[in-house]
Amino acid sequence: MTRKILVTSALPYANGPLHLGHIIEHVQTDVWVRFQRMRGAECIYVCAEDTHGTPIMIKAQAEGITPEELIARVAEQHRADFKGFLIGHDHFHSTHSAENRHYTDLMFERLRKAGHITTRSVRQAYDEQAGMFLPDRYVRGGCPKCGAADQYGDSCEVCGATYSPADLVDPTSTLSGTKPVWRESEHLFFALGNFEPMLRDWVASGSLQAAVRAKLDEWFAAGLQDWDISRDAPYFGFEIPGFPGKYFYVWFDAPIGYLGSFKALCEKRGLDPDEYLRPDSACELYHFIGKDISYFHTLFWPAVLHGAGMRRPTAVFVHGFLTVDGQKMSKSRGTFITAARYLEHLPPEPLRYYFAAKLGPGVDDIDLSLDDFTARVNSDLVGKLVNIASRCAGFVARGGGTLAARLPDPALYAEFAGASERIAALYDARDYSATMREIMLLADRANQYVDAHKPWALAKDPAQAEAVLGVATQGINLFRVLMVYLAPVLPQIACKAAGFLGAPLAQWDEIATPLLGTPLAPYEPLATRLDAAVVAGLVDATVTAPAPVAADNTKKSGAKVKTDPVAKPDAISIDDFAKLDLRIAKVVAASAVEGSDKLLQLTLDLDGETRNVFSGIRSSYTPESMVGRHVVVVANLAPRKMRFGVSEGMVLCASNADGRVYLLGADEGAAAGMSVS
Ligand code: 2FM
Ligand code: ZN
Repeated sequence: MTRKILVTSALPYANGPLHLGHIIEHVQTDVWVRFQRMRGAECIYVCAEDTHGTPIMIKAQAEGITPEELIARVAEQHRADFKGFLIGHDHFHSTHSAENRHYTDLMFERLRKAGHITTRSVRQAYDEQAGMFLPDRYVRGGCPKCGAADQYGDSCEVCGATYSPADLVDPTSTLSGTKPVWRESEHLFFALGNFEPMLRDWVASGSLQAAVRAKLDEWFAAGLQDWDISRDAPYFGFEIPGFPGKYFYVWFDAPIGYLGSFKALCEKRGLDPDEYLRPDSACELYHFIGKDISYFHTLFWPAVLHGAGMRRPTAVFVHGFLTVDGQKMSKSRGTFITAARYLEHLPPEPLRYYFAAKLGPGVDDIDLSLDDFTARVNSDLVGKLVNIASRCAGFVARGGGTLAARLPDPALYAEFAGASERIAALYDARDYSATMREIMLLADRANQYVDAHKPWALAKDPAQAEAVLGVATQGINLFRVLMVYLAPVLPQIACKAAGFLGAPLAQWDEIATPLLGTPLAPYEPLATRLDAAVVAGLVDATVTAPAPVAADNTKKSGAKVKTDPVAKPDAISIDDFAKLDLRIAKVVAASAVEGSDKLLQLTLDLDGETRNVFSGIRSSYTPESMVGRHVVVVANLAPRKMRFGVSEGMVLCASNADGRVYLLGADEGAAAGMSVS
């Protein structure tokens, strides 16, 4: 029977850009989904923007726009980033939607009727000037334990102590700077404790990784507390039916957003969501998440589902954090790599491959080592995989362009095809690093085969033409098997390879029979070497300094990364500043850069010298509006190799909290006095 599978990645929070921590999770999920589809499963992959809560409300206020406008802007960028990384969601929705409201209200009502919702009074910090209750992170003050100044209301970044905002020394509201008062308010709670036997049972069913199970045992031992699921107005979210002025806490409706997104897809495709969601459903449900949000997904979420008369997840797949060169991603070190920044420099598949090569089935952290990334991609994808096709294609072309009618070494082919179930089992278990190792061992075997038969030597003897075509046909067929195995990770390369082979690579069992006697299309390079200089540019610290991190992360976004707690840009000395050679240049030509929604390519006249500069101002300036303009340029910036060419300088701009970019202009007097005009 066909497996029917519903899969999700964690919903990115709609208040900031995606970074590589989000991308690794979506790649992990996307690879699994593509693999299941190649195996014949009906596998549906949904995601959505996570939109509710205080941070989005405050950020929108600060920008003078509505939360809906903010969400729409962020969602557009998120979608572009996911597309850029070839993440194939079947549907990408929003938690601020009718579908999510439907399930949130329905599930709440069922929980309430079943007696799983209680109310009680909560004492909380209240900002009288802002007129609102303050989430813990919006209160700062001295740490009650070590005395460190200016700490968050829930924990100290200096000594690690956790406490409540009421314990802070001299607390102040980050919203108004005033001293909060303490007020009581009625909150709604979800009685998690009612579900302990069910949860223990669920955990025992083997749905979780060992490390996650161990964590749950700790949580069970500590006792399951009621969960506060309401927040008072003003709050951006869904008002709770029957409780005016009370809103569902963002974490209540966020996982329900998985179902909301699925519902929207079902409506589009004419499917019945209940087939997947009813308690006795034969369909499977999997959530891919980072380890920091395990509590929500392995306790609250299965309990909420069960309490609302719905099925529980088949499993929750938890991954570790992403580090860059062994360290937490850091804005001040320039290693906080956004998805968009990566895509401005490099194509997606090398990183998809590298992440796959590093991802195991466990919750260990994953390190993106930039040198290792370059070496690994060049060695495996270019040196091993693509090399097989590129070295054999020419011999087939010279032999008439059509593959031989039989394989000279069918046993070797059978060995490659025989690895199929082993590799499939590794993919299914999300042990991608072992999967990539197995595949690369086969790639080595294929190269050894070609090396041993030396078609280039045979080709010197016209009498050996048939043998040469045989060797090349064998090589191409081995390549084809490898390409099927790698298609979940490298969908675009697989697509190009299918064009070259003149045969699809869409199904796992395509490899059962070799490709014989069919013509090949002309070979075009399937992947090119990574340039270490371009890779190094990913963390180039000359990026526009990020806006200081506001205290806006009560709801973590991009939680899949370890980030610097204090992500403020480093201070520079006057000597550092004096190194900048700032000049006025005239823009003589400007064009949009194909493949980037951020960059404009500018041709600058700098005192008679022509410079090519890529500038990330496309969101705010059209190419036409740039021509003839005078700009301020850092003229002595070391040239940077980017994906689209070399950038020879930097045009200065400043950015605002509204995300827009403002060019620094030359005032008229200066421009009038310049040699160029
Ligand atoms: O941690 C986060 O960034 C959340 N936005 C993840 C939500 S996942 C699901 F519960 F919606
Ligand atoms: Zn402290």
